[in-house]
Amino acid sequence: MHNTDSSHSDSHGTTVGNVPFGRPLQSEFNDGLDYPRLGSMSFRRGTLTPNQTKMWDENWPAMGKVLADEVIDLDEWFGRTGAKTILEIGSGTGTSTAAMAPLEADTNIIACEIYKPGLAKLMGAAVRENLSNIRLVRGDGVEVLNRMLPEQSLDGVRIYFPDPWPKARHHKRRIIQSGVLHLIATRLKPGGVLHVATDHADYAEWIQELVHVEPLLEFKGWPWPECPQLTDRQVITKFEGKGLEKEHVITEFLWQRTDAPAQEA
Ligand SMILES: C[S@@+](CC[C@H](N)C(=O)[O-])C[C@H]1O[C@@H](n2cnc3c(N)ncnc32)[C@H](O)[C@@H]1O
Repeated sequence: MHNTDSSHSDSHGTTVGNVPFGRPLQSEFNDGLDYPRLGSMSFRRGTLTPNQTKMWDENWPAMGKVLADEVIDLDEWFGRTGAKTILEIGSGTGTSTAAMAPLEADTNIIACEIYKPGLAKLMGAAVRENLSNIRLVRGDGVEVLNRMLPEQSLDGVRIYFPDPWPKARHHKRRIIQSGVLHLIATRLKPGGVLHVATDHADYAEWIQELVHVEPLLEFKGWPWPECPQLTDRQVITKFEGKGLEKEHVITEFLWQRTDAPAQEA
């Protein structure tokens, strides 16, 4: 993977929350399941404004973590004991994250994203609106799940409008694959919920073919009125909006982690 993230050179002037030099952490799962192969994924560049840089430097130490071999102590990080925790993978600019968080103030929300300006935008909203239940992780969500979150530690995982990788030769980069579904299932507590939404018809079909592939996830379809957590994203995000303009249909998927103990795949 060629990491071209300009923040390596610290050109944003920030002193914290930068990805270390060298090859990003990438696990070999060797369990016979499929995982995204990111290939030469190039990280989108983006510059923080001077105000964002100041805000980032002030708040990152308390609010943010960079992907690392470190198991997160959730109670310590959020400063409270026993709250539910939801991980959102690919939070983008955090529009729906910030809109949902005040409605689930009793829940810890971890927004995981590679794109630094997106995290900065969400951080700005969280600081301005005093959304004390949001934390940020910068890095690949698959690695964050594998390295930083213990088994059965999450009440929910959200993946809203994941990159569709429309070209057939790029399908292997899609995040929804059998291995990631298994990894998510092991990190969810029994009863925990996985929520995925896409506005891409071909990706929806791809996901539909995988809804029953993971034995630890019971497919609930959509809608699921008894779902134990918030599923209304509250806002139409940039990506979702683009889809709607093109009259794309939004397809939503919900699964619930079964009570069965996780077994090695
Ligand atoms: C199409 S955007 C959707 C953003 C947001 N959920 C929304 O609805 O506006 C997908 C986002 O996922 C992020 N992303 C892609 N792969 C990721 C990964 N493996 N881990 C974390 N974020 C990822 C991208 O940087 C991008 O911001």
